[in-house]
Amino acid sequence: MIAAKNISVNKVSISKVSELDFDNIPFGKAFTDHMFVADYKDGAWSDFRIEPFAHFSIHPANIAWHYGQAIFEGMKATKSTEGIPMLFRPEMHGKRINKSAVRMCMPEFPEDIFGEALYELVKLEQNWIPKKEGSALYIRPYMVAMDEFIGVQVAKSYKFIIFCCPVGPYYSKSLKLKAETEYIRAAKGGTGFAKAAGNYGGSLYPTELAKNEGYDQILWLDAKEFKYAQEVGTMNIFFVIDNKVITPAIDDGTILEGITRDSLIKILIEKGHHIEERPISIEEIMEAGHNGKLQEVFGAGTAAVVANVKEIGYQNDNIRLNPDNYQIAPMLKDTINGIRSNRLKDPFGWTVKVV
Ligand code: COI
Repeated sequence: MIAAKNISVNKVSISKVSELDFDNIPFGKAFTDHMFVADYKDGAWSDFRIEPFAHFSIHPANIAWHYGQAIFEGMKATKSTEGIPMLFRPEMHGKRINKSAVRMCMPEFPEDIFGEALYELVKLEQNWIPKKEGSALYIRPYMVAMDEFIGVQVAKSYKFIIFCCPVGPYYSKSLKLKAETEYIRAAKGGTGFAKAAGNYGGSLYPTELAKNEGYDQILWLDAKEFKYAQEVGTMNIFFVIDNKVITPAIDDGTILEGITRDSLIKILIEKGHHIEERPISIEEIMEAGHNGKLQEVFGAGTAAVVANVKEIGYQNDNIRLNPDNYQIAPMLKDTINGIRSNRLKDPFGWTVKVV
C-alpha cells in the first residue's frame, strides 16, 4: 500500500468523534468526518479527493435512482492490539467492485487509486476505529451513475465514493432462516455474483414476508428448481454435516463471491478440516437436520462476520439447532477476529497496516 500521490485532502476543522459512544455503536448510523469522492466523465476518472462527509445535491432525473446502476462493497478496518489501523484484504475488494462494475456496464475504478483512497481515509479516520474485538470501522465503497436523463441507457458520468461507519456486530443473536420456495434472489445469467444495489432491493419484499412469519432472514434457493441453497443475502452460508464443512459452490454466477467466505475456507483448509464447495440441496440439509447429522449452520459476511443459525424452516418442515454446541463457527469467528486484531498470527498476509 502506498501513500497518496493522487488524492487531495480537505480536512474538517473539528472532528465529531468525541460524540460517539463507543460502548453502544448502532450498525450503520454513525458516520465519520470524511469521505473519498471521485468523478467519472469524458471517459476517465478524475478529481480524487477526500473531503468533509456531507450531503450531495442530486438531480431528480438521476439515472441510478431510476434504473439502478449502483454497486457497492462492504469492508472493514480494525486496530491491532498495539493500536495500529489495519485493512483486511483490500485488494480483493478492489477486484470485486470492478467485477460488479463490468456486469452493470459501469467503468472500472483504478485499483491503485482504490488502495490509496482506503489507506488515506483510514489513516485520517483512525480515531473512529473501535478498539473492542468484533467491532470495526465498516467501510462502504460504492459507485453510482450520475447522468441526468430518463432514457434507459448506459450512463456516461459516475461518482465513486467511500465513507466509513464505526460498527458493532451486525447480528446480535442466532438466526432463524426461511428456505424460500416462492421468490428468488438470483438466476443463472443474472447479477447474483455482483454487489449490485438491485439484488438487495429485490430481496426486501420476500424478507419482510419471512419476518412476518417469525424468521430473521431468507435462505435463498436456486431459481430453476428451488432445490439448491444459494446464500442468505446478507452473507454466504456454511453447513457442517457429519464433520464435513459444506458451502454452496459459487461457479454458476448466482452467489456473491464473499471475501469472508473465501477467508473461512482458507482458515478451514489450513486447520485441516474437510471442506466441500458444491451444490447442497435443501432436502440434504433438512434430512441431515432430522437424523442428527447437521451439526452447525452459520453465515459468513463482512458485516455479519460469522453468524450462527439456530433454525431453518422449509415448507411445512422445520429443523432446530443448538448453537451453544457449535465448535467450528466459534473457532472461525475467533480466528478471523484474532487475525483482524493481530492477536493471532496472520499466516495468509491478509491484513494491511496503515502506518
Ligand atoms: C457486508 O457484509 O458488508 C454487506 O455488504 C452485507 C450487507 C450489510 C448489505
